[in-house]
Amino acid sequence: MALEGDREELRVMAASLRRHVEFHGRAGIRLLPRGRGIERKPEETPGEGLLGGLEGNLFSDCAPASQAKSLEELRAAIGDCRRCKLWPGRTHVVFGVGNAKAKLMFIGEGPGRDEDLQGEPFVGRAGQLLTDIITKGMGLKREDVYIANVVKCRPPENRNPEPDEVESCEPFLKKQIELVQPQIIVALGKFAVQSLLKSKVAITRLRGIWHDYHGIKLMPTFHPAYLLRNPGDKKLVWEDIKKVLKELKTPSA
Ligand code: URA
Repeated sequence: MALEGDREELRVMAASLRRHVEFHGRAGIRLLPRGRGIERKPEETPGEGLLGGLEGNLFSDCAPASQAKSLEELRAAIGDCRRCKLWPGRTHVVFGVGNAKAKLMFIGEGPGRDEDLQGEPFVGRAGQLLTDIITKGMGLKREDVYIANVVKCRPPENRNPEPDEVESCEPFLKKQIELVQPQIIVALGKFAVQSLLKSKVAITRLRGIWHDYHGIKLMPTFHPAYLLRNPGDKKLVWEDIKKVLKELKTPSA
């Protein structure tokens, strides 16, 4: 377990380091200082001198998020995020909404235009359909569940998020899930499902079957936006949702 935690920390640090170097690369900086600054004097504390400052910059972007004790602290740690190339095109960082202790969490792909403007996930047409699934289908309130996305900033022209964008946002989604501790995750659509399960298998084969996400039951289903285009598949989503409802009602759950 500790090894797994160390690996995760190392992965986040490596991703942070890569973003830092790429950021400098985009600014035209091809070389980073070495030598003089590497030899830290014993009395130097991190934050002082060249290496201290560099260390602070390299690892500070995800560290407060990983230590967040609440969703509010996590949101504050994300701040006015500029960790990936999506930030210039967004209006709001669309963090997530709902019950911080929800048993059920829905995870979509990323904000669309309405979500970007309002700062809340799933508030556009697809969002209305998701709300209907939650309220009319499941008999729950939107405030009973927690809703988030794989990426928190709107990709331009609603294109799919790119791998570096997903990677930048991944520590935040993971932390969000860790804080909410849902019993069940419903992953909405091919993109969210494949990102969460790290799979390339088609959604048509993954949906309707329980999967494991770090010890949490995960049910993949079609995205509400897909259902707006293919209403005939609503019955398949209803089958998936019935499995979720049954699982929510089981005493051990
Ligand atoms: N589609 C998504 O995947 N997420 C949203 O928040 C809205 C539409």
